Amino acid sequence: MKANNPSTKIMRLNLVVVTAIAMAYAQIPATLSFYIHLVGGKAWDVPSKPNHYETWAKGEKFTKDDILVFDFCTGMHTVAEVPKVAYDTCNTTAAKTIETLGPTTVTVSNVGMYFFICTKHCQSGQKVAIDVKPS
Ligand SMILES: *[C@@H]1O[C@H](CO)[C@@H](O)[C@H](O)[C@H]1NC(C)=O
Repeated sequence: MKANNPSTKIMRLNLVVVTAIAMAYAQIPATLSFYIHLVGGKAWDVPSKPNHYETWAKGEKFTKDDILVFDFCTGMHTVAEVPKVAYDTCNTTAAKTIETLGPTTVTVSNVGMYFFICTKHCQSGQKVAIDVKPS
């Protein structure tokens, strides 16, 4: 397993973003209106400040059909979508979805709150709440 090879990682991220853009083009008829958010503004990792992801999310505007990019190396972290109660308590067994291959993207296609945690480092603050507004 050579998951931490940097060039492999960059190629995968490019592929993920290009695929996401291509898919978005195919689905949006008249206007192309979505944003790609690099979650946390840098790699999806254990934050140096406990409220890093909260602060980051406050500074972003999320609208329906936006794309979230979680940039991490396979094996280091995960991205699990969880209910609010599991987000608050870092309950890793309550995940709705879990992505273990990094980097990965999530399209937020519903209006409302999304909660994501790293199942390995949630207790260390590696979790983010995303408030998706109508477009
Ligand atoms: C964690 O979530 C699971 C599944 O929803 C639930 O069965 C369990 O009781 C929860 N654990 C805690 C400590 O809340």
